[in-house]
Amino acid sequence: MSKRVAVIGAGPSGLAQLRAFQSAAKAGADIPEIVCFEKQEDWGGLWNYTWRTGLDEYGEPVHCSMYRYLWSNGPKEGLEFADYSFEEHFGKQIASYPPRAVLFDYIKGRVEKADVRKWIRFRTPVRYVEWDAGASKFKVSSHDLVNDKTSTEMFDNVVCCSGHFSTPNTPHFDGLDRFNGRVLHAHDFRDAVEFKDKDLLLIGTSYSAEDIGSQCWKYGAKSITVSHRTAPMGYDWPDNWQEVPLLTKVEGNTCTFKDGTTKDVDAIILCTGYLHHFPFMAEDLKLHTANRLATADLYKGVAFVHNPALFYIGMQDQWFTFNMFDAQGWWARDVIMGRIALPDKAAMQADVEERVAREDQNEDDYACIRYQGDYVKELIAETDYPSFDVDGANEAFFQWKKHKKQNIMTFRDNSYKSVITGTMAPKHHTPWKDALDDTLESYLEN
Ligand SMILES: Cc1cc2nc3c(=O)[nH]c(=O)nc-3n(C[C@H](O)[C@H](O)[C@H](O)COP(=O)(O)OP(=O)(O)OC[C@H]3O[C@@H](n4cnc5c(N)ncnc54)[C@H](O)[C@@H]3O)c2cc1C
Ligand SMILES: NC(=O)c1ccc[n+]([C@@H]2O[C@H](COP(=O)([O-])OP(=O)(O)OC[C@H]3O[C@@H](n4cnc5c(N)ncnc54)[C@H](OP(=O)(O)O)[C@@H]3O)[C@@H](O)[C@H]2O)c1
Repeated sequence: MSKRVAVIGAGPSGLAQLRAFQSAAKAGADIPEIVCFEKQEDWGGLWNYTWRTGLDEYGEPVHCSMYRYLWSNGPKEGLEFADYSFEEHFGKQIASYPPRAVLFDYIKGRVEKADVRKWIRFRTPVRYVEWDAGASKFKVSSHDLVNDKTSTEMFDNVVCCSGHFSTPNTPHFDGLDRFNGRVLHAHDFRDAVEFKDKDLLLIGTSYSAEDIGSQCWKYGAKSITVSHRTAPMGYDWPDNWQEVPLLTKVEGNTCTFKDGTTKDVDAIILCTGYLHHFPFMAEDLKLHTANRLATADLYKGVAFVHNPALFYIGMQDQWFTFNMFDAQGWWARDVIMGRIALPDKAAMQADVEERVAREDQNEDDYACIRYQGDYVKELIAETDYPSFDVDGANEAFFQWKKHKKQNIMTFRDNSYKSVITGTMAPKHHTPWKDALDDTLESYLEN
């Protein structure tokens, strides 16, 4: 095939796209030339941990938002690749909430087997993507950081897999500029040990607040105070953990909240989410969307309605992750290879509106999980991605939610059944709260 396809990013979404094309080639199809641009020195996206924060050694914004001791916050049974099980990778079934290093190893295993590393140009951020209407192609400018060389090439398609949990959303609160302790965003949080014996204030009530607070509690923080804008998380927290209304001002080390109560703290961590940020996209190609299940402007959640030669993978808020990126990558591949035809623009826009309206009717998290599960089913029904028991994966998420409600500090001690191999995960050898060693070697000791 004479087409050229640019994939931006080699995180789980970009790697899903590469694996989709490789699996077609393996089945005998004539596939396009694939060039994957990755700004980091290795693949894995957010799962590729670094101690660095701020700018990296080339002056590029550090992509990593993960931290030491991060364990999966959802059951692995909800994200397992349908074409590469945990048992295939590790040679045995493993416990249900692996630490980052274990999931990183799993992600790498599939693409090493598929031999797609040769398609990736590492240390090469994409600087600009624009549409050349005359040539009906994209002009993609990238920067080879190692040789400090910028070049521009033409591509028939672009698949943007640059992630959306890397550019921090950083609201201002009165007095933060005069706070006598450390203020940081979750993106720059690396090691809970730093906060041992400290009084901490976290702002936000989603996964970062819940998990960074839990890490700091586990590694010996003196107290955790979590400030909410909308509603408290409402778990049955440990004794040294409290939930308070929104921060209104900071004076010295004293934080005042909307109900007039105060707390003296040593550090403030803004767990206030991330921005969808595409500084490298020309204005007419840029995705503008909130972090939600039905993204704006993406037909089937993937094809950019204003120029459907451009695809965005993984831009939704995420219950399903790796297997959803696969469903999307396989679907984008089949559009690019002419196996799936796109309708006209009005029909694509109607599809987006219908998805948004349907998401707005979801009454609780259970409905949201079913909604995203149905989306995964819809896409895989249209391609040759191996079908799997999505309802079974939904069930693992339902159990997870129930276990969190029962005890937020022990939910990771539970096990679930794989929907790919049907095997029950073993119980981990150590309760999460006592497992201070998060290495792969330790986790696999079961
Ligand atoms: C703190 C944290 C914890 C999480 N924990 C879990 C979890 O436990 N389980 C789970 O399933 N999900 C988790 N997630 C969700 C996470 O979004 C997905 O697991 C997954 O990493 C998303 O993959 P992605 O490829 O879309 O994006 P990313 O992983 O962000 O990868 C994007 C890649 O694009 C590259 N890139 C960006 N811009 C450019 C450019 N201009 N040019 C070239 N390359 C570029 C980046 O370097 C990166 O490698 C977590 C997210 C965060 C922030
Ligand atoms: N161990 C893990 O696996 C782990 C750990 C951390 C994060 N993650 C992942 O990381 C992703 C991002 O999670 P996230 O928690 O960083 O972001 P998020 O889910 O987008 O949540 C953002 C939070 O910030 C709050 N917020 C935003 N602006 C605010 C403001 N101006 N003032 C006060 N509060 C504000 C929001 O409050 P409102 O509710 O009021 O809008 C919300 O609680 C998720 O996919 C999650 O699964 C995983």
